[in-house]
Amino acid sequence: MTDLASVRFAAADTENPAEFKGKIAVFVSPEGKLDPAGRKLNRAMRGGLQRYVDSKDFAGAKEGEGHVFAFPAGLEAEAVQLVKLTRKPKSPEAARRAGATLAKFRSGAPLLVLGAGQGLIEEVAFGLCLRDYSFDDHKTRPENGEAAGEAQPDAAGAKPPAVFVLADGEKAREAEAAFGVLAAVAEGVIFTRDLINAPANVLTTETFAQKLAALAELGLKVEVLEEAELERLGMGALLAVGQGSESPSKVVVMEWQGGGEEPPFALVGKGVVFDTGGISIKPAAGMEDMTMDMGGAGVVAGVMKSLALRKARANVVGLVGLVENMPDGRAQRPGDVVTSMKGDTIEVINTDAEGRLVLADVLWYAQDRFAPSGIVDLATLTGAIIIGLGHENAGVFSNDDALCDAFLKSARSEEEGAWRMPLGEAYDKMLKSQIADMKNVGGRPAGSITAAQFLQRFIRKGVPWMHLDIAGVASVKADTDFAPKGATGWGVRALDRLIRDRYEG
Ligand code: BES
Ligand code: MN
Ligand code: ZN
Repeated sequence: MTDLASVRFAAADTENPAEFKGKIAVFVSPEGKLDPAGRKLNRAMRGGLQRYVDSKDFAGAKEGEGHVFAFPAGLEAEAVQLVKLTRKPKSPEAARRAGATLAKFRSGAPLLVLGAGQGLIEEVAFGLCLRDYSFDDHKTRPENGEAAGEAQPDAAGAKPPAVFVLADGEKAREAEAAFGVLAAVAEGVIFTRDLINAPANVLTTETFAQKLAALAELGLKVEVLEEAELERLGMGALLAVGQGSESPSKVVVMEWQGGGEEPPFALVGKGVVFDTGGISIKPAAGMEDMTMDMGGAGVVAGVMKSLALRKARANVVGLVGLVENMPDGRAQRPGDVVTSMKGDTIEVINTDAEGRLVLADVLWYAQDRFAPSGIVDLATLTGAIIIGLGHENAGVFSNDDALCDAFLKSARSEEEGAWRMPLGEAYDKMLKSQIADMKNVGGRPAGSITAAQFLQRFIRKGVPWMHLDIAGVASVKADTDFAPKGATGWGVRALDRLIRDRYEG
């Protein structure tokens, strides 16, 4: 489990930058105006900061970026990072990017951020927390690349803090309060990343369910439905996917009751802890990536954790279908016909199109039990969405313009890429089966859309629904602005914002 970076806000008179032995950060507005702390640092560095600010490099730097001064004369610090940032930013983007810059700069060392006079300092801290992440659960020693002498976690595993120095105690308390909600969201993002990065022998359906059950500590109501119960409910599609695995299939229900008596908003996640493809087995190359096939469930879990931590004033229920798709003597075969909880029969043409089988039953159960005001599912559902949108945007499918537009707006303001895709009857027809009510694949053309059409068959008339195909964005092979390569936590921020803006207004 990865801990959130430890962030503190302190009054200026409690720290002496000249004697600080870690790394120091200071902000300069795009007009090149050093603040009092910057001027003091500049004097100690014999004008070094000002010379950079007067240079072409500074003029060309983007907001949120800057320059590192290593082993500066006149200071005891290891390095100083100057960050270009508007004194009073109008929106959080640049402030968050500045925070990400600081996370990369400090790379594990104690950090002193001279933030008196800097607006949106809590957003800087948020950006720092998002970017200051590495998945080290299975590293027994530091990497060679991590420079010797850099602060490492102490014996108790605690990483050195980032201390944000503000004008006085009052300002420090204000920033602390403003950061509270953001820290809750960052905790959710990091929980999601840890789940998605975990290998499949560690994160089994059992251990996944245990981690979710532990969220009860935060005030969530958590219920784990075991196979016998799923059978009783008639979840023949979900159970068929898991029947070749030694790990029992489960559905976990997490309820957050922070609102009044209104029906909940529902989040449903695909939680395939490993997807071999089943009997329609995948090629060996890259199969290891399918440890992330529980990404949808991971995002649902992260959002629920954030909601609980920030005590959201909304009713939200999160449901995840946890299964493992393995080839085995008991595994389902291509050509099998299974019966969903809804009662519709499905001809399983390809056992690798398993996510939709899982979601079909969890979506139906969610509507049956909770009559939600709206329902959003998340799934690493198709390779085809990666062909269409790459790793920049998740595919968004919806039967409800209001819900969809609200989400696209949330995603934009959180800088999480999302792009709406079409639905339509002609696509739905591609799922026609000779022997059952539908088949589970629609052929190669429009693969992501026919997958969405399949899901829509399990949405009741009149229920606002949105499907997010996150196969391309849940885990990536290169660093992004706010995450190192690996799991991104995509969607936690956008969904938390959607809930905040739509239900807590
Ligand atoms: N989990 C995969 C989709 C996937 C691919 C996620 C790449 C992340 C990265 C899904 O279960 C799957 O195998 N889909 C098939 C569907 C096909 C058989 C219709 C696919 O996309 O090839
Ligand atoms: Mn598959
Ligand atoms: Zn899958």
